Amino acid sequence: MSHAPATMGPVTGPAPDPLPGLRALHPRLPSPLQEVEDGAFARRGVRLVLKRDDLIHPDLPGNKWRKLEPNLRAAAAAGARTLLTFGGAYSNHLRATAAAGRLLGFGTIGVVRGDELAGAPLNPSLARCAADGMRLHFLDRDSYRRKSEPAVLAALHDRFGAFHVLPEGGSNALAAQGCTELGRELRGVADTVGVACGTGGTLAGLAAGLGPGRRALGFAVLKGGRPHFLQGTVEELQRAAFGGPRGDWRLEDRFHCGGYARRTPELDAFADAFERRHGLPLERVYVAKLLYGLTTLAEEGAFPAGSTVAAVITGAP
Ligand SMILES: Cc1ncc(COP(=O)(O)O)c(C=O)c1O
Repeated sequence: MSHAPATMGPVTGPAPDPLPGLRALHPRLPSPLQEVEDGAFARRGVRLVLKRDDLIHPDLPGNKWRKLEPNLRAAAAAGARTLLTFGGAYSNHLRATAAAGRLLGFGTIGVVRGDELAGAPLNPSLARCAADGMRLHFLDRDSYRRKSEPAVLAALHDRFGAFHVLPEGGSNALAAQGCTELGRELRGVADTVGVACGTGGTLAGLAAGLGPGRRALGFAVLKGGRPHFLQGTVEELQRAAFGGPRGDWRLEDRFHCGGYARRTPELDAFADAFERRHGLPLERVYVAKLLYGLTTLAEEGAFPAGSTVAAVITGAP
């Protein structure tokens, strides 16, 4: 007796990988978990676990890998040879895109906010981008604000020819989908997961991947008004990526310390002490604010005794 189905369609295997070079970079996934004994948490009977996404890849660490990977595959599948993206003068996303271009054979163009920087010596972050082959273009702040408008993009096409656009911060629907895996890796590990938020893509995906009974807390590193503008941004990203709201998530806006890349003496003292206690150098724009916020919440008794909190270490200094 034959078990073959009566009608058989054409034999199809998995779709060919449009960017096999990505796998050859050997990302460290799932990223490691590191439990740390920390007084503020231990005094409340709460466990603290660090999700070491900073160790995924030396050039594409943390959420950079998770957000870029699906976008780079899509770019390759569309036949793109050149990537164009946007960022501030110290953007981690610009640096990661430049590195991805070098590693995977894409040309890269970095559109930098602020034409006052044109002609000035490059800061170390932009110098790294340039060394990785990224062409840098400095845009006045008004045009930069209008960077998704057809007229601004058309002017960039006139100047640079064909390119595939990645959004500022790398956050779009594909990026949010890429970050769901971060949530899935934390299922069964933590009750609450904290992540620092800039453009919101990481939180949108993390929350969607976590599964029932677990909550994601996003710590805004930018000042954003009340309600914080990121609330709507994350909702919109979830709509675009998943068709609607996903997961249990909330934004914390008390720990931006004055705004993007701003610091306070309290934040610096906290970060210095955390580094000393745990021997872990902290990225100061995002990760230090996340840990400062989580620690303050633990001291305030926000996490139930017996629960586990995970902090996503999204980048390295
Ligand atoms: C180290 C680090 N952590 C967190 C974030 C915030 O991620 P998102 O922009 O997806 O909110 C960024 C920015 O992309 C970052 O560079």
